[in-house]
Order: sequence, then C-alpha cells, then structure tokens
Amino acid sequence: MSQLKPMSHIDSAPSTPGKFKMEKASYFNRVRWHTSLAKLAVWSFVFLGAILIFFLRSPASSPVPADLSRRSLRTYNWGGPVWEKRVRASAQIRSRNGFAVLVTGAAGFVGTHVSAALKRRGDGVLGLDNFNDYYDPSLKRARQGLLERSGVYIVEGDINDEALLRKLFEVVPFTHVMHLAAQAGVRYAMENPGSYVHSNIAGFVNLLEVCKSVNPQPAIVWASSSSVYGLNTKVPFSERDRTDQPASLYAATKKAGEEIAHTYNHIYGLSLTGLRFFTVYGPWGRPDMAYFFFTRDLLKGKSIPIFEAANHGTVARDFTYIDDIVRGCLGALDTAEKSTGSGGKKRGPAQLRIFNLGNTSPVPVSDLVSILERLLKVKAKRNIMKLPRNGDVQFTHANISYAQMELGYKPTTDLQSGLKKFVRWYLNYYSGGKKAVE
Ligand SMILES: NC(=O)c1ccc[n+]([C@@H]2O[C@H](COP(=O)([O-])OP(=O)(O)OC[C@H]3O[C@@H](n4cnc5c(N)ncnc54)[C@H](O)[C@@H]3O)[C@@H](O)[C@H]2O)c1
Ligand SMILES: *[C@@H]1O[C@H](CO)[C@@H](O)[C@H](O)[C@H]1NC(C)=O
Repeated sequence: MSQLKPMSHIDSAPSTPGKFKMEKASYFNRVRWHTSLAKLAVWSFVFLGAILIFFLRSPASSPVPADLSRRSLRTYNWGGPVWEKRVRASAQIRSRNGFAVLVTGAAGFVGTHVSAALKRRGDGVLGLDNFNDYYDPSLKRARQGLLERSGVYIVEGDINDEALLRKLFEVVPFTHVMHLAAQAGVRYAMENPGSYVHSNIAGFVNLLEVCKSVNPQPAIVWASSSSVYGLNTKVPFSERDRTDQPASLYAATKKAGEEIAHTYNHIYGLSLTGLRFFTVYGPWGRPDMAYFFFTRDLLKGKSIPIFEAANHGTVARDFTYIDDIVRGCLGALDTAEKSTGSGGKKRGPAQLRIFNLGNTSPVPVSDLVSILERLLKVKAKRNIMKLPRNGDVQFTHANISYAQMELGYKPTTDLQSGLKKFVRWYLNYYSGGKKAVE
C-alpha cells in the first residue's frame, strides 16, 4: 500500500524532465546545454535513489487480512532513523536494575495505567497499539497524550505484524513484555468473532513466536481473564478450579491463550505469567463496561438495565480497582524469572504461572447502580431484565491467596471509593473541552 505514495510523487514530476530544460537551453551554447542536461540527469538519479532507499529502509507493515472487519483494515507506517530514536528514547531505562518493557495494548485502559506506573519508577517503556475502534478511539488518543507527556511513546501497529515486532526487538532488547493487547468484551464476540481470533489467538501466537526467537528472550506477563471460569459454580474461584466451560468466545480465546502459553513455555523455555483480571474499573476506563455506560446513561436520564439470574438470583461482580490491578501487574513483572531459551531453543525449565487478580468481594450490580446514584446525585430508572445467555456469567469471585503469597498482591480499594475516583474523572473528562485530567 505505502508503495503507492512514492509512486504518486514520481508521477507528479514531469515524466521527461529533460524536455522542458531543452527549450530553455536553446539560448545557451551546445557545450553548456550538454553539461546542464548531464547535471540534471545525475541529480535526478540521486534524488530518485534517495527516495527509493528511504522507502526500502522503512518497511511498511503488512496489511491485515481484509476479511477481519473494517476495524482491522489499517496500514501503519513505521521505521526510519527518527522513529528508531523515538523508540529507543521511550524504552531508555532510568533506574538501577530497571526493566525495558514492551507494553502491548498501551493505549488501552489497563495498558495506559501500567505503562505510566512503570515509567514513573524508572523502567523503560515502549507501547504498541493498533488504536482500533472497538470503542471510541478518541479516548485511546487522549490516553496516548497522557503517556506522551510522561515520556512513553506508543508505536501504532498490530501485534500480528511480525516484521514490526522483530524490528522493535532489534532496536530495543526488551527484558519484559507486558502483553495487554486483546479484543475484550463478552457480548461483542457474537457480532465480530473474527476480531477475537485475530487479536487473542493469532496475535498472541505471533508475539510468542517473535519472543521465543529473539536473544535474549524476554519474560512475558499477559492478561488472561476471570471469564475463563465460565460456568464454574464453586466459589471463590481458585486458580486450580476447572476452566473448561467457557460461556463466551472471548473466554474461550483467553483459555486458548493459557494453553498456548503452556506450549511456548514447554517447548521454548519462555517465562510466562498469565493474570486473570476480575472486572477492572477506574479513571480512563472502558466505555463498553457497565459501570462506565451506567454513568453515562444515568446522567442522560436513560433507564438502566439490571440483569437478574433465574429465580431472582443476584448478578454480582468482583469489581477490582485499576490501581490494585496495576500493583498486581508490577508484582508479576518483578517476580518473573528470566526465560531460559536461546537461539529459539529451550535450555532448561522456565517459569509458568497463572494468578487471579481480583478484589475478593463481589458486589451485586444493583448495588453498583445505587453507589453511582449517590455519587451522581440522580435517581436511576431501573429496568430489571433476565440475564441473557450470551456470555455473561452470574457472578465472579476471586480467591487471591496465591497472588498474595507470590506477588504480595493486596487490593486496597473498595467499590465505593474506586467509583468516586472514576466519577470525578468522568465528569472532568466529559465536561466540555475533553481536557485530560488527573
Ligand atoms: N478491563 C477488564 O475488566 C478486563 C478483565 C479481564 C481481562 N482483561 C484483559 O486485560 C487486557 C487489557 O484490557 P483493557 O480493559 O485495558 O482493554 P482495552 O480494550 O482498553 O485495551 C486493549 C488495547 O489493545 C489494543 N489492541 C487490540 N487488538 C490489538 C492488536 N491486534 N494489535 C495491537 N493492539 C491491539 C486496543 O486498541 C486497546 O487499546 C486485555 O487483554 C483484556 O482482555 C480486562
Ligand atoms: C484459595 O486458594 C488456595 C490456593 O492458592 C487454596 O489453598 C485455598 O483453599 C483457597 N481458598 C478457598 C476458600 O477456596
């Protein structure tokens, strides 16, 4: 695609540059006419050569297969010395024993917070995100602006782009990958199943393929999901509970990710840590999640659908505040052991872990609405509906003792205080000007 660009520049130049010069040259003597033509020819070749070299040196990413919905129909430009300098600067480690971390999904909700936290403590951070429009991309751009101001550069590209990933590792020998890029959302999977396969399976495999082959191999921490517990009814959910009954394609792709992680750990010695997040919320959050669009709809005076399970069963979630999740992510990175492979070959057993990162106190969704009513000072029009069987489970509840033991993970924010911070951000962000706050 990008080849079209230089071509059109060439086309807009006169196709026979000598001709125009020739008429002018008739005023001069033959010898001078010849030298100027020769000069012009030489300079034209130098110029064309420079253009060619420039575009050969900056490989365009391969376009995403066209059948993957309009969301994926993008091409990106990357490469070149200026770009490499930016990448290197962003990934520059500033603290002793700091990491160089590639954060995928950095323009996302969790990715932005994790990137900022890593940067704050002196790690080198480079973001990667394809800025897809699953939800309002202007929110992703605003997060990007936030990170830019703290010195984190987000490369615009897809985790399926092997050439791009290889280039990134060539420019920066990342010690860690924090892999958060994914197609999230449970219900959207029925609308666009291909996007889940593209990002959560194909993209993850592509990332692992590159990670296994680079030297040194990075340690990888990545986001799985509490949704892998699916129809599991034993509470609280512990890491050893069964996860073979996913209730959505989203959950199935996250479960597949866990199995794929096992494979790459087993064959190539990659150090892999999967984190099962439980309903993360907070400032800069995701507009497709209930707490977010409830807030929007409450302020608009629209009715709020509240799901109810069979026999008036309560639907509840183990809502986890973003700062707690960030601490869990950092704990996972800090305790990740090195990968053991080199030259694409395993040299010894490597670390393979899975952790729940939740809050351990499920809250009924109707209580969530009550808290929002108080914070927003509005009365909700509640619309009680039956929980549809399209992916959502009745409740989630994390057992976090393993993460507590291994990562020192200890959530400290309850839903009330966390939502207060979210609402403050929301009102600020959406009150005119869209100015970034906090
Ligand atoms: N937020 C939650 O409650 C929650 C719960 C469980 C698991 N997770 C997981 O945590 C991770 C982060 O979630 P989030 O809430 O920040 O979601 P998010 O959608 O805000 O962030 C994901 C980011 O990844 C990017 N992305 C998607 N596909 C990509 C691709 N192929 N190449 C490059 N970039 C791509 C998106 O543009 C987005 O910015 C995801 O893996 C998600 O599945 C989140
Ligand atoms: C929580 O998980 C741990 C293992 O990490 C287990 O020993 C403990 O029994 C679990 N607790 C409950 C209440 O299920």
